[in-house]
Amino acid sequence: MKIGNKSYQSIWIDESDPAIIRVIDQQRLPFFFETKELRSVDDVFSAIDDMTVRGAPLIGAAGAFGIYLATLEINSHTDIRDHLSNAARYLKSCRPTAVNLSWAVNYVMDSLDFDLPLKLLSERSLAAANEICEMEKENCRRIGYHGLKLIESISEKKKGEPVNILTHCNAGWLACIDYGTATAPIYFAHDKGIPIHVWVDETRPRNQGAKLTAWELGQYGVPYTLIADNAGGHLMQHKMVDIVIVGSDRTTRTGDVANKTGTYLKALAAFDNNIPFYSAFPSTSFDFSISNGAEEIVIEKRDPEEVTRISGFSDGRIQSVLICPEDTVALNFGFDITPARLITGLITEKGICWATEKDITEMFSDKI
Ligand code: MRU
Repeated sequence: MKIGNKSYQSIWIDESDPAIIRVIDQQRLPFFFETKELRSVDDVFSAIDDMTVRGAPLIGAAGAFGIYLATLEINSHTDIRDHLSNAARYLKSCRPTAVNLSWAVNYVMDSLDFDLPLKLLSERSLAAANEICEMEKENCRRIGYHGLKLIESISEKKKGEPVNILTHCNAGWLACIDYGTATAPIYFAHDKGIPIHVWVDETRPRNQGAKLTAWELGQYGVPYTLIADNAGGHLMQHKMVDIVIVGSDRTTRTGDVANKTGTYLKALAAFDNNIPFYSAFPSTSFDFSISNGAEEIVIEKRDPEEVTRISGFSDGRIQSVLICPEDTVALNFGFDITPARLITGLITEKGICWATEKDITEMFSDKI
């Protein structure tokens, strides 16, 4: 994606030093555009944990590069199989809900022959991590292409009046490698000159919508309006939303979707108001081994301080302030489950499918 005149993706290998993985520091956006260097497995773990990098496909890519950096930590005394297996286990333990992390780490580990000479082992792991980045970019580009048709058909019905799209959290290019998932159809519609407008949920408690989605859409010139998370239902009742498009961190073989906390409530409101509700994601976010999302998907529990405090920009710096009595007890689930019955369809790189086991296993029979 272009920032100013320079093209960026959310993660890349440093041009001048192949021992450095560079990422956009998403904790500093939208107030500061800064990149961060990752030089070790620990750096990657911290960057995922403190959400310098976040979003399912990007967390996966970061984990993949983490294995590459682990190969650079090997010396003549290292038991290679042990070292890399420990690094893989450690990285996969960082955040539990997004399936892409374990998928990507396993993808790189499965591509390795531990008996290879060290230089070849590193090259092979880097090649696998770069493959994942190219794959996810292509997946998102195709999601954009398929999702665009949904926006075009609504635009035709609205005779050119703006298509109002509601989105939750940030499922944009920052959360992927490029294009985004929920945002890819939006960018392609904008490129085609289709009048659109995006309702951006602030997405408490970490405000990925207010900070990251608003920033992305602003950079691209897409009209958007920031709303409080709880305002979406009212807008839907008053026919101010034509379609809801969100991302996914883990989708079951039956079509249940785990995504940022609050997504389920948006799906309920959309269902109650007969508004199409789509989840856009690459097939790398499917977990075909499970069928009941509410019972089988592990929901990340994060620091309660993310709820009792809020961070923003003031006096030239990013600051965190308390928003409740000092001794307030808070609970912070990072994700929730939207059951398949509330989902109109899934926008994937292979096309749009119903959120049913039959449709999913038919469309992805090669991956199951
Ligand atoms: O906690 P986050 O910011 O990693 O949560 C991100 C989301 O829930 C996204 O919607 C999801 O990962 C899809 S990103 C394309």
